[in-house]
Amino acid sequence: MMKALVTAANGQVGHALSQLAEAYDVDVVSLPRTALDISQAQSIEQAIGETKPDIIINAAAYTAVDKAESDQKTAFLVNETGAANLASACHKANLPLIHISTDYVYSGEQTTSYKETDGTGPLNIYGKSKLAGDMAIVDLLTRHIILRTSWVFGLHGNNFVKTMLRLGKDRDELGIINDQHGGPTAAEDIAETILKLCGFIQKGDVEWGLYHYSGQPACSWYDFAVEIFDHARSLDFDQGVTVKPIPTSDYPTPAARPKSTILDCSKIKNRYNIPQPDWRSRLDTLIQAEFA
Ligand SMILES: NC(=O)c1ccc[n+]([C@@H]2O[C@H](COP(=O)([O-])OP(=O)(O)OC[C@H]3O[C@@H](n4cnc5c(N)ncnc54)[C@H](OP(=O)(O)O)[C@@H]3O)[C@@H](O)[C@H]2O)c1
Repeated sequence: MMKALVTAANGQVGHALSQLAEAYDVDVVSLPRTALDISQAQSIEQAIGETKPDIIINAAAYTAVDKAESDQKTAFLVNETGAANLASACHKANLPLIHISTDYVYSGEQTTSYKETDGTGPLNIYGKSKLAGDMAIVDLLTRHIILRTSWVFGLHGNNFVKTMLRLGKDRDELGIINDQHGGPTAAEDIAETILKLCGFIQKGDVEWGLYHYSGQPACSWYDFAVEIFDHARSLDFDQGVTVKPIPTSDYPTPAARPKSTILDCSKIKNRYNIPQPDWRSRLDTLIQAEFA
C-alpha cells in the first residue's frame, strides 16, 4: 500500500483526502499545520523522517484571497516558499509531490476555456503567490503533479455553499455576482482524483506535470447560488430567499477576481480517464450535513 504524507489535515481537501484514502488503498498520514508547517523546511524534513512516506500531497495553502492583498508576505511565505520547501524536501528524499493550484493564476480575459499550455496572468496577490509556488515546484522537482482546480467546496471547512446557506437563514434577498464564471469543484472529487493519481504513480504509469481538474457545468456565482437554494428546497430546507444577479462592480472586494476561468480538463481525461465531475451531485450531502 502506498503511504502518502498529506499537509493541511484541517483544510477542505486535506480532510477529504483522509476520509477517502482507504477506499483507494492509500495509507494517508495527514498532519495539521501545527504538526507540519510548510513554510518551515525543518518541519517538513522532520515529518518525512517520522512518517517515511512514498509521496507527499500538498493540500496546504494561504487561501484567504482578499486578506492576501494586505498580507502579501504571509501569502508568499506559504504559497511560494512553502511549495518550494516541499519540492526541495521531496527532491532530497527522492519522493514525488502532488500539489494543488488554482484557476486564479489566469487573468480570466480569455474567451475560451483555459488549457494547461495557456499563458498565466494572475490579477491578485493570492493568484500571484500560487503561481510563484507552481513555478518553484517546476524548477526544483521533476516528479511532480500540479493539479489546478477552482471554486472548491467540501463537507469540512468554509466555502461558498456554506456561506450561501448561512446567509439564506437571515436574509430575504441576496445579490450574487453574475459576470464571473468558473467551475465549482467538490473537495471530495479533488481528493478522489488525487488518490487515483497515486495509483497511477504506484504503477509507474505517470506523466509528470500540470493538469486541470474542475467540476462541470461551468457557471456564474449567481447560477451556483440558485442551484444551492434549489437543492435545499428539494430537500425541504426552503429558506425563502430570492437570489438576484448583480455585476462585479456592485460588490467591490480588496482582491480583483478574474472574469472567466473555465478550465479545459481534457488532458487529465485523455491521459488518466478521469472525467470532469458534475458538481451538482455533491450538493445534497453537504446541504443535509449543514441542516442536520
Ligand atoms: N478554496 C478554493 O476555492 C480553491 C480554489 C482553487 C484552488 N484551491 C487550492 O486548493 C488547495 C486546497 O484548498 P482548500 O480549499 O482545501 O484550503 P482551505 O480549506 O482553505 O485550507 C487551507 C489549509 O492550509 C493550511 N495551512 C495554511 N498555512 C499553512 C502552513 N504554513 N503549513 C501547513 N498548513 C498550512 C490551513 O491550516 P489551518 O487549518 O491551521 O488554518 C488549512 O488547513 C489549495 O492549494 C488552494 O490554493 C482552492
